[in-house]
Amino acid sequence: MVVSAISRESSTCYVLARHIADLCAQRDVEVDFVTPGDVGLPVNDGTIPDDLPAARAWQARVDAVHCHIWVSPEYHSGMTGGMKNLFDFLPKEPMACDIVGLVALAGGGMAALNTLNGMSVVARSLGAWVAPEMCAVNSNEVRAGLDERAAGRITAMVDSVIDMGRRVYT
Ligand SMILES: Cc1cc2nc3c(=O)[nH]c(=O)nc-3n(C[C@H](O)[C@H](O)[C@H](O)COP(=O)(O)O)c2cc1C
Repeated sequence: MVVSAISRESSTCYVLARHIADLCAQRDVEVDFVTPGDVGLPVNDGTIPDDLPAARAWQARVDAVHCHIWVSPEYHSGMTGGMKNLFDFLPKEPMACDIVGLVALAGGGMAALNTLNGMSVVARSLGAWVAPEMCAVNSNEVRAGLDERAAGRITAMVDSVIDMGRRVYT
């Protein structure tokens, strides 16, 4: 499952998430590409009934996969609220022992580190294993086309998640 925190197709987040989904597909992996818009959940403000059909469908969709790659821009030093809202509809079970690769975009490569660390905490809180190759990417570089070094880091993260997924689940 590749999750783009931003639903707008022109966003650097969406473009990079699509690129990552293509890399996965090139490695014979079936990809479920997710945006908050296509999941269509309301804001979890604590008033949502437990049996909301959209929430049940989302939980089943997550339960069907073992490997995840989350891509988010940095919004005030964290993942977007829209992405976090997706995870706020999950109990622990659907992602327990799954493998998660993380990518965060910001104006400066270093600036995304807080976001990566926050995403890592959330993934582990859901019972998942986080791949060590976390990727901080400059959104301007995505717009201009990733240089060889940045592209290599993304590819290494994708390979790590898929390799670990195959070792554990096939
Ligand atoms: C509400 C909001 C908060 C943001 N906060 C940060 C931030 O804390 N640090 C940062 O480097 N960029 C921040 N940005 C910039 C985004 O990380 C991203 O680079 C920018 O929105 C480009 O995204 P786009 O490709 O979707 O247009 C923020 C953007 C928005 C809309």
